[in-house]
Amino acid sequence: MSPPRDLLVAAAERWGTPLYVTDLDAAAGAAWAWAEALPGALVAYAVKANPDPALLRRLAADGCGFEVVGPVELALALRAGADPERIVVNGVGQSKADLADALATGALVNAESLSALGAMVAAGGSGRIGLRINPGLDAGTHPHLATGSADAKFGIARDELPEALERLRSAGIRLASIGAHIGSDITDLEPFERLATLLAGLAGETAAERIDLGGGYAGSPAAWAAAVGAHLPDPPRLIVEPGRSIVRDAGWLLTRVVRVQERGHLIADAGMTELLRPMLYGARHPVTVLRPGDALPSNDRRWTLSGPICEAGDVLVRDLEEASGEGALLAIGEAGAYGSAMASNYNGRLRPAQVVIEGGELRLSRRRETLDDYVARDV
Ligand code: LLP
Repeated sequence: MSPPRDLLVAAAERWGTPLYVTDLDAAAGAAWAWAEALPGALVAYAVKANPDPALLRRLAADGCGFEVVGPVELALALRAGADPERIVVNGVGQSKADLADALATGALVNAESLSALGAMVAAGGSGRIGLRINPGLDAGTHPHLATGSADAKFGIARDELPEALERLRSAGIRLASIGAHIGSDITDLEPFERLATLLAGLAGETAAERIDLGGGYAGSPAAWAAAVGAHLPDPPRLIVEPGRSIVRDAGWLLTRVVRVQERGHLIADAGMTELLRPMLYGARHPVTVLRPGDALPSNDRRWTLSGPICEAGDVLVRDLEEASGEGALLAIGEAGAYGSAMASNYNGRLRPAQVVIEGGELRLSRRRETLDDYVARDV
């Protein structure tokens, strides 16, 4: 998606940089594309991709569901007005109390181990319990983003499934969902086709009410639905948990060039503390010059956009295709997913403000962190 230049420039002038901007209409449109591609499915937006409060409210108002990990994301979704019946709770490290509290909200809670399942059955009540299994499946993505392989920490092993089912049966609990999440930033459809085949078989054996295929696809919902649909019983009661494909293209990180380091670095006012993905996964994000700065010294090498953090690996984008000098205003694209969500205070950085676009208007959604916020927890 090409950046809405005028709005981005106006946002940077009004709220300063570094700044995150999310286009709510674009994100909602992408969520609708999932709903249209999969009629009757529960589309549960993965809150971890971008928990911006205005974004969550907009998606909840549009009837979107939510996938959350742990009690805080669950609370954020509920505060945003989400219907608990449309929330899926995941997490490998939830305490027994977290699991019991999550069940009590009416959300669908996935057990990722026999121990968690035991705690959930013991919690009793009328909560809806699902099983997240480990499919032992290679999704062909970055190793940090592969969650479905047999040695991953996620999900109940397939050979433990009979025992899990027996525990539910003896407690008189109907299995609400059987599912898996095989990883993230997956561009190939074939792993999802294999997952669909596996889960369709297990849904038959376990009499699960729904099949949850997780999130992870980085492409278009229509392509996913066409490929995966062929492997599912008709009519499937599906859950999908897309994060990246809903918000990636709807968000930009705005940053200014503060200094030109003539050995080849443009030093930006944003770095790994605002956008960790290049450093953590070697991700490449597109850069647009919104407003040029000073002319650059002639330099026969390509410029690297680096951050201000005291780490040599603090690089945002290597070999820029478009570059400009001091004072330039840049938009880093494809930053709507796992951008602001992974910002940190390292090096004494105050986390950036978050602005949203809705109906062609800009508004502040989260203000910039202050020194007072930073020290507020000091005792
Ligand atoms: N469901 C579960 C259980 C998940 O763990 C995730 C993502 C999703 C759904 C959504 O996956 P998506 O559709 O967004 O790929 N920080 C990394 C991404 C980590 C994803 C973690 N789990 C990055 O910046 O690429």
